[in-house]
Amino acid sequence: MAFDPDLIAALRAAKHIAVLTGAGVSAESGVPTFRDALTGLWAKHDPLQLATPEAFARDPETVSRWYDERRLNVLKRIPNPGHLALARWQHLMVERGRTFTLITQNVDRLHQSAGSTEVIEVHGSLIEWRCTRTGRIVECRGPAFAQHPMPSGHGGVLRPNVVWFGEALPEEAAYAAQHAAGFCDVFLSIGTSALVYPAAGYVHLAKSSGAVTVEINRDPTPATEIVDHSMLGLAGEIVPALVEAWAHR
Ligand code: OAD
Repeated sequence: MAFDPDLIAALRAAKHIAVLTGAGVSAESGVPTFRDALTGLWAKHDPLQLATPEAFARDPETVSRWYDERRLNVLKRIPNPGHLALARWQHLMVERGRTFTLITQNVDRLHQSAGSTEVIEVHGSLIEWRCTRTGRIVECRGPAFAQHPMPSGHGGVLRPNVVWFGEALPEEAAYAAQHAAGFCDVFLSIGTSALVYPAAGYVHLAKSSGAVTVEINRDPTPATEIVDHSMLGLAGEIVPALVEAWAHR
């Protein structure tokens, strides 16, 4: 795979690389992307309608069941070459005394399974659930919940510890992500439709702060027009090749 020599030069010169990933990075692991049409029992639902506090208030059973199925699916999945290449990239950057910040909108924990560290989860995690009364967070790696919604044991029920439409991002993660985007030398947006703010704004912030910007995505997005380098294709193919081209001297 051939890459623009200017891009490789910018990546090699970069002291700080920041990467934002979206559902496209996990698609090749068998995790459906957010905007893929739902199938089977869920075909009649719109994911944008299910991922809201209002939906949970109106129909907690359906929303809990949907997230629990997604939780069980991601627990069965393994990282693909895209995740593994990003983890390798971070380790090589750190070895060279540089920084590499991985920001993800994904709630599947596959970056961490691949070996990435200090991953900034701006949309939370499906593996964690939170008591609606106390806010206490529990990690759920077991089988399907016996009830929907599942009683928390503390007078509330469990809701997924993810960010729903209309909710604020976790403060610390949002701050760390903005800081990384604002101070990096190269910013890469990978496998995201670049539609959901504030995450979709990080590429603009990086660009206006002087970073070289890159997009790797299967389809064009609103970010495609503004980035310095756009590569259309699969993350699981392009990212490993790019890391190889960067590492090879
Ligand atoms: P989307 O489902 O919106 O977009 C996935 C993107 O990945 C699309 O642009 C696809 O073209 C692209 N894609 C699919 N397969 C790919 C592959 N193998 N390689 C590269 N690209 C591929 O997912 P996100 O952008 O992550 O938030 O969605 C952003 C947020 O919207 C989600 O975190 C979720 C949703 O609302 C919340 O729930 C708050």
